[in-house]
Amino acid sequence: MSATAPKKAPLPDDIRARKGGVPLVSLTAYTTPMAQMMDPHCDFVLVGDSVGMVLHGLPSTLGVTMEMMILHGQAVARGLSGAMMVIDMPFGSYERSREQAFDNAARLMAETGAGAVKLEGGVAMAETIAFLVARGIPVMAHVGLTPQSINTLGGYKVQGRGAAGDAMMADAKAVAAAGAFAVVLEKVPQTLADAVTAAVDIPTIGIGASAGCDGQILVVDDMLGLFTAFKAKFVKRYAELGATGADAIAAYAEDVRARRFPGPEHVFADTAPEPRK
Ligand code: KIV
Repeated sequence: MSATAPKKAPLPDDIRARKGGVPLVSLTAYTTPMAQMMDPHCDFVLVGDSVGMVLHGLPSTLGVTMEMMILHGQAVARGLSGAMMVIDMPFGSYERSREQAFDNAARLMAETGAGAVKLEGGVAMAETIAFLVARGIPVMAHVGLTPQSINTLGGYKVQGRGAAGDAMMADAKAVAAAGAFAVVLEKVPQTLADAVTAAVDIPTIGIGASAGCDGQILVVDDMLGLFTAFKAKFVKRYAELGATGADAIAAYAEDVRARRFPGPEHVFADTAPEPRK
């Protein structure tokens, strides 16, 4: 293969086969330009329901709808060619029954072209995961801090500390046995994340977990410094685009008020310049 040959998007089985290998790289995306930016660098891109908080100003992910996920999924799909797209099932779209989960997962995949869906929950969701996988829907699971359950978890706390570690381990094992091709571990102690990674035969994708996971994911607006409402301990800011953008907007406003913008180079003459011979 030449160095410039386009990368082919991995399938869920390719992701599964990366267990224990070079760590999988992933970010969330919600728009075409962001997806284009990360496509050469990511193994998979998640259209996360975090879109509700980082782009729509919602206080949690609970208000995210199927229609929002589909619109953002379609935008992200237009920006990807080499990375697989995974899309989140929003709160309320899969918990009631296996059939409800199938209908909504099939709709998300058909209308966006996603290669897989992600849903939150461990033991309680294992039967649903097995039902979907048996019917052609690859599932990425998500255990530990599951933001759609903040009202029963009591907030965005670290999950699985102390005795609760056994239940978290059981959740991860249940989703792996049910056929999930990978599992996100969110906000769990490092030693537990390492123990889960050793115990399950599918890749663990850490977010606030451990460098020992089989892959890592971050919310792109967090790592670029675009979402500044709060910063979780597990976020590393690789840029401060929010601050840079705010400075740029302030400079534009000053220029407009002082009539410095537009300058001569931004306006048009009455007549078009002569074509060059
Ligand atoms: O919605 C999301 O962004 C997620 C990641 C935090 C894993 O589920």
